[in-house]
Amino acid sequence: MTKLSVNINKIATIRNARGGNVPDVLKAAIDCERFGAQGVTVHPRPDERHIRYQDVRDIRPMVSTEFNIEGYPNKSFIDLVLEVKPHQVTLVPDPPDVLTSNAGWDTMKNEDFLKEVIQEFQQNKIRTSIFIETDEAMVRNAAKTGTDRIELYTESYAKIFPVNKERAIEPFVQAANVANEVGVGINAGHDLDLNNLRYFAENIPGLLEVSIGHALISDALYMGLENAVQLYLRELR
Ligand code: PXP
Repeated sequence: MTKLSVNINKIATIRNARGGNVPDVLKAAIDCERFGAQGVTVHPRPDERHIRYQDVRDIRPMVSTEFNIEGYPNKSFIDLVLEVKPHQVTLVPDPPDVLTSNAGWDTMKNEDFLKEVIQEFQQNKIRTSIFIETDEAMVRNAAKTGTDRIELYTESYAKIFPVNKERAIEPFVQAANVANEVGVGINAGHDLDLNNLRYFAENIPGLLEVSIGHALISDALYMGLENAVQLYLRELR
């Protein structure tokens, strides 16, 4: 079964709106696991506008499933990941001021850079994943960076899905076939929700993990976090 990793950045965004510790990000991480999620994802950005570096340190010992840290690998991010030693690090090529991740890596232009960073994480026994789009050459070249996994950037799937789900999934199936052929594992994320998740998971061969934040936390406002986590898990079964 594809694993569900819940991205809890949105909980931190609400907390930061008021200072203080409501809602409690640490409790949210613990609860996501308690409610059945197989992982917790955080994406600390350089300005710490949602998840803070200290949150990452505090959450680490509480997560017994899989802790995934996403971000652009600048020096402070690399130092944090090496200090905290999560199970997985997902490298994202986003500039510091971007609202949310909006592009995948160019695995050709950045091959040497990625190779170097990936090696350092792997030497510290941290599994690596790199965020990429479905372009065949990018997927094929991802293997040359030595990464354990790729994370397919699913925004385009989510956009096209309501109009034409077959067309929406097609490039992702092709990318997954290439990833399977070159031997890199497949994660996916961005804009996955209760409407589009099942079709994605059913059609992507070898999908290991999805990371979902915005839609799941928004659904939790109406149905509660426990119900939301359980409903997303149901879509993956
Ligand atoms: N994967 C990456 C690399 C992301 O940056 C994000 C958003 O922070 C997600 C997955 C999750 O996307 P969403 O919040 O739309 O579920």
